[in-house]
Amino acid sequence: MLGSLVLIGGEPGIGKSTLMLQVALGLKNKTLYVSGEESLSQIKLRAERLKLTNDQTLFLSETSTEKILLHLEQSKADLAIIDSIQTIYTDRVESSPGSVTQVRESTVLLLKYAKENNVPIILIGHINKDGNLAGPKILEHIVDTVLQFEGDKNYLYRILRSQKNRFGSTQELGIFEMEHNGLREVHNPSELLVSQSKDSYSGTAITASMDGSRPFMIEIQALVSTAAYGTPQRSANGFDTRRMNMLLAVLEKRIGFKLSMKDVFLNLAGGIKVDDPALDLSIVCAILSSDQDIEISPKVCFAGEVGLTGEIRAVNRVAQRIKEAEKLGFEQIFVSAYNKIEELQCQINIVPVKKVTEVFRHLFA
Ligand code: TYD
Ligand code: MG
Repeated sequence: MLGSLVLIGGEPGIGKSTLMLQVALGLKNKTLYVSGEESLSQIKLRAERLKLTNDQTLFLSETSTEKILLHLEQSKADLAIIDSIQTIYTDRVESSPGSVTQVRESTVLLLKYAKENNVPIILIGHINKDGNLAGPKILEHIVDTVLQFEGDKNYLYRILRSQKNRFGSTQELGIFEMEHNGLREVHNPSELLVSQSKDSYSGTAITASMDGSRPFMIEIQALVSTAAYGTPQRSANGFDTRRMNMLLAVLEKRIGFKLSMKDVFLNLAGGIKVDDPALDLSIVCAILSSDQDIEISPKVCFAGEVGLTGEIRAVNRVAQRIKEAEKLGFEQIFVSAYNKIEELQCQINIVPVKKVTEVFRHLFA
């Protein structure tokens, strides 16, 4: 979008520079890539690694906002990328680079340039472990669009999602895989997020999930075991621990499972974070499966939110989820009986359920 200011945030080392360099090198437009973190030779080395060349990409190693603006004017670039907003400074304020005032003032100057010249500018920003843009939470109000680049550094998958978008939806997201020569977009995430092994184990259940407007299947793994020490351990990877504890309480109080003395570990495949209430049902099923040590067929999947009384609530876009499951060869899907699915034409066996106890009977009785 012409003249817009975009912020892309992510933890250090996640691949922001790589992604933005790929964007710059992949465009036909004249792009100015400014790095305040790396020297020109370091940037060139990275570009070589990506095996991309583009004579429309100009590189600049600079930290002065005023000088960056001068370069922008002189080069008449159609797009600028600033890596990173925390490394640049303006003479207008005295504090050091990375401080709240510096970051804000520099951003305001860049915003002004973007609007006056109709040139889009992308800012890279480091965020800390808590997921906050280091210091400049205020930045999020100044810019037009905030994108978040996230993933677990121990895994190869990365998700680019939109948190704020003044000009369009925040529903879109991209999934990438970090390879030796850069990031590659993953077009069919389901294949990655469901383990490829032919054997099935107890404790896994697959969700027909949605993140943004895209359906994909994701595998949940749970491990339930008797607590070795007094206090049971609870940990969830890629899922909100409080939500997991709520689901455990539902299983305990409403269905009578004795889980309070057990360790429960939960993991979402691929090291990614998914925020979708429809995960609830497969989380509950994965936990029960591990606890009972009875496996769930890998041809079965789930999409349902679990309420405090153990009821299974409707989820959004259920038709899309069902279609995706069918497309990928699943034979059966459990959904909430409160979802309207009468008019759906499909082969997959749809099991409408109202309560967790019903699902339990289907799977384990
Ligand atoms: P980088 O883009 O520097 O992260 P950020 O700018 O968010 O701090 O990338 C970090 C990691 O990615 C680095 O540890 C090396 C790895 N990497 C690859 O695996 N393949 C590649 O092609 C590139 C360029 C980097
Ligand atoms: Mg970087």
